[in-house]
Order: sequence, then C-alpha cells, then structure tokens
Amino acid sequence: MCAASTIEIYHAKKKSILNAKQKEEYQRNGFLVIQDFVPASICKLLMDRANALIDNFDPSIVKTIFSTKDQKHAKAKYFLDSGDKIHFFFEEQAIDENGNLKYEKSRSINKFGHAMHDLDPVFNLFSHNHKIATLITDLGMHDPLLMQSMYICKQPHIGGEVTCHQDATYLHAKNNNIIGLWFALEDATLENGCLWVIPGGHLGNLKSKFIRENDTTRLEVYDETPWSLDKMVPLEVTQGSVIALNGLLPHMSKENTSSRSRHAYTLHAIPRETEYPSTNWLQRSADMPFIGFL
Ligand code: FE2
Repeated sequence: MCAASTIEIYHAKKKSILNAKQKEEYQRNGFLVIQDFVPASICKLLMDRANALIDNFDPSIVKTIFSTKDQKHAKAKYFLDSGDKIHFFFEEQAIDENGNLKYEKSRSINKFGHAMHDLDPVFNLFSHNHKIATLITDLGMHDPLLMQSMYICKQPHIGGEVTCHQDATYLHAKNNNIIGLWFALEDATLENGCLWVIPGGHLGNLKSKFIRENDTTRLEVYDETPWSLDKMVPLEVTQGSVIALNGLLPHMSKENTSSRSRHAYTLHAIPRETEYPSTNWLQRSADMPFIGFL
C-alpha cells in the first residue's frame, strides 16, 4: 500500500478524540499521554521516510559548519535558516573538530527540521491530518497552524541530553498559547532517553525567552530560580503513543545510554489568530506561510 493511501485511512474524521477526564488531566498537569495514537504501520512509514531523507542528505555540504573550530556564526545561521527548510543537525559527540563524522551518517544525526511537515510529502500527509487537528482542538486550541516539525533520532550511546526547558522559551505566541505533540515512533524508556516532565509546572511563569534580532539571538532571563528537578517524572511510552505538552510545561530528556535508538517526531501548533511575533527565531519567507489543516 502506498504512503498516501495508508495515511488516508488513518485520516478518518472523528468529532472528538479526548474524553472529559483526559481534557481535565491536560489542563491540570500540562501534559497528556495517549497510547496507540499512531498505528505501528505508520510509525514504520515515518521512520522509513526519515531514513530516506537522511540517506539523501550529503553531510559534506555542511561539514565546515559543524566543525568545532570557530564556526559559531555559521552554525547559528544554518539553524536560523531552517524555519522553512529541512536542515540536519548532528549529535555533538558524532563530529570531530574538523567536521568529520566519527560514525556512519545514519548514526550521527541528532535531529532534522523544521519544516518537513510542509515540504516533505509523507510528513505533510501525516502532520496535517484530521486526527491531529481534532486532538489539538480537543486540547483547547481553536484553528491551529503548524509552526514547526522536528524528527529526533536520539542515537544509541551518543544521543545527548536535552536540559530542562519550556518550549515557549523558543517558540513565541500570544499568551504562550503553544501545544507540542511528541510522537513516539519507537518505545521511549529510561534507558534510551524518554521525556521527563514536572506535572503542573505549566502553571508557573515563563522563565526565559530566546529572542531573534535579525541574524543574531539572545536569551532574556526573567527568573533564575533553578528548576525543581526532584519533581520530574519520567514518561516511558510505547511506540505509537503521543505526548501532548503545554508550551509552559518544563520538560527534558536524558542521554541515551542504551544500544537502542529513540526516534520521535514532534509538531508545535499556535492559534491562527496569533499575530506571529518577530521575536521568534523561526521565521519563514513570505511565500511559505504557516498552514493549518485540510
Ligand atoms: Fe521541548
């Protein structure tokens, strides 16, 4: 069966996905785990497509950017330009100081993003489907637009830690109204670096803001109090689960110390009514506006 028809079946329209208890849980905790949201066949389809994109990526194009020798500016530009493209980023431990890969390419990619939900036909079909639209609406966001997508590999043994943060630090919208969806394409466990969250932590304020000014960025800090890491709980989930995250919820993931990868696909949505802030690092060219759902 081709990708389009497989995903078409998955699209089947539903009026509602979440029950009242789940909606209340999301409002109270700032996150919600839904098991079996994505069928195993579609997880495989997305992983196969990710592997094909990685296969087609020529790392020599960005070799100089990722060498550790004084390439800060080039690295920052490659990142800032990725809002309306598909750019590849390496695990820190996978690159030597000259930008050479220490491992084979498919084992060196940390993530790629941030617009495959619009640019790649397979990720586009998956991302803009009715089931996801219904989920986001059920979570309380009316008429969402998809702002960003990321495919995260969390490679065996070298998959790095992502320190505790709020997504609203990096993605700005009116009233910090942002919903993140984290799709587990493989089982996520303590060993391979599952997500950790602080339940209810979204009720606190935004602690910092990553601000873009033309081609530079800076971090504006409002609250230097360290995160209460003792309140973190792990979210071990099985393949096909989705974790919905409020933009203010503190979350993190630890290193992958196992011999298994931890592939995940993420989407971030903002309300269409948001006047898109110029402070966002993620900016698109005028001919590629954010789009919502079919
Ligand atoms: Fe995050």
